[in-house]
Amino acid sequence: MKKKITKIGVLTSGGDSPGMNAAIRAVVRTGIYHGMEVYGINRGYSGMVDGDIHRLEGRSVANIIQRGGTFLKTSRCAEFFTKEGRKTAYDNLKKHGIEGLVIIGGDGSFRGAQIFSNEYDIPCIGLPGTIDKDIAGTDFTIGFDTAVNTAVEAIDKIRDTADAHDRLFIIEVMGRDAGYIALHSGISTGAEHILIPEKKTSVEDLIASLKEKERRKKLVNMIVVAEGEDFGGADELAKHIKKEMPHQELRVCILGHIQRGGSPSCFDRVIASRMGYHAVECLMEERFNVFIGIVNNKMHYTPLDEAVKKKQRISEEWLKIVKILAT
Ligand code: F6P
Repeated sequence: MKKKITKIGVLTSGGDSPGMNAAIRAVVRTGIYHGMEVYGINRGYSGMVDGDIHRLEGRSVANIIQRGGTFLKTSRCAEFFTKEGRKTAYDNLKKHGIEGLVIIGGDGSFRGAQIFSNEYDIPCIGLPGTIDKDIAGTDFTIGFDTAVNTAVEAIDKIRDTADAHDRLFIIEVMGRDAGYIALHSGISTGAEHILIPEKKTSVEDLIASLKEKERRKKLVNMIVVAEGEDFGGADELAKHIKKEMPHQELRVCILGHIQRGGSPSCFDRVIASRMGYHAVECLMEERFNVFIGIVNNKMHYTPLDEAVKKKQRISEEWLKIVKILAT
């Protein structure tokens, strides 16, 4: 019979997302409930490489469920993507007797976990912690709900002033490779146009549509742009519109990193707690090297080898809805 896992490590990696602390707390407390020793690895894979690893107790994660950021800190670690870096990381885990890992992060973090788990005998469980929601195999990622609601609150405020002045606003939201924040925040604030990386922007169509709105005296317009949209983001778009429509009153607002911070929503705290609990259950049941998602409100397990090959797609129907509703 195989020896049961008794020592596990947990880390957060890549861009932080609200709810990561709730996920860490769930991993730590579920592990301790099952009699495991749980170790926190600081600064993501960097802490694995540097040996920045500390034992956590149930009380170590008290009073963090409501906090944004990640109390373990995070980083993007280039060294872990070298063979030597991973060997050092492995040796450091072995020094502490760590036999299983929970990695909370986005697609880049899963890629690291996938490579590591194929090379070494330490099973990895991924939890999707990213505001971008771009991971296939889950309906939600930890942090998306909070981030998108931060964006919605800001865009609603911008609409008030846009309306008062009859202005066109271009609002840039996060999403280097993914348009989910733009799509959700844009639809829910009644944005007239939404530009996302997944769909090539026809600036000619956009200008034609703005001119048509101008003819029928629709003067308040909001364009929500994902930062990774192919035209080059809000500033580039503004320059282009100004060139084509010099008389147009136009302002740009880049929401930036405020979308990554803040206290997690109830929704993010709940999914983080569920996923964190199930991460430990996976290690107990030897369901190794998967990432845990939620699909149709049920836990869903995707092998890390598959997870790194797929991205969540945006359905054409969403884009049709935007067009129909924003007249
Ligand atoms: O976490 C994902 C993400 O927020 C992207 O949407 C964004 O482009 C990127 O991180 C920003 O990363 P950084 O904080 O390193 O600039």
